[in-house]
Amino acid sequence: MFRSLLPLVIVFGVAATPSIADGARPIELKTTQFDLPDSDRMFPDGPGSDAINNNCLACHSADMVLNQPAMSRNAWTAEVKKMINNYKAPVAPEDVGTIVEYLVALKGAK
Ligand code: HEC
Repeated sequence: MFRSLLPLVIVFGVAATPSIADGARPIELKTTQFDLPDSDRMFPDGPGSDAINNNCLACHSADMVLNQPAMSRNAWTAEVKKMINNYKAPVAPEDVGTIVEYLVALKGAK
């Protein structure tokens, strides 16, 4: 007797489940307005500035770099390698030289 009721209970249960009874309601995406960070968060224009802006702003602002003391080419090279090796910065290998040149031109030790 109870067994013969089981299919009925299942059918009713499925029909009563809201997500299925509702049918597929499409997800609505809305456009949101927001202000992008000001350009003073970027590296100043110059040869190689595109490379450094594209590769070095994902995790911290340009200030993190610009507020460092002037350093030698070797020190800047080591710094860029540290970002790549220690912090897994996804820098394209062909951009490393350009970035180091930019850093030396802007903040190279005399
Ligand atoms: C994947 C994330 C990531 C990217 C991309 C990245 N960095 Fe960093 N960077 C870090 C972290 C993490 C620190 C350490 C922050 C702290 O100590 O608070 C840091 C710190 C620094 C510092 C401060 C000195 C130091 O060693 O802590 C400099 C300079 C720097 N980064 C330069 C760069 C340059 C140049 C690039 C582009 C080649 C770059 N970063 C890209 C993660 C990143």
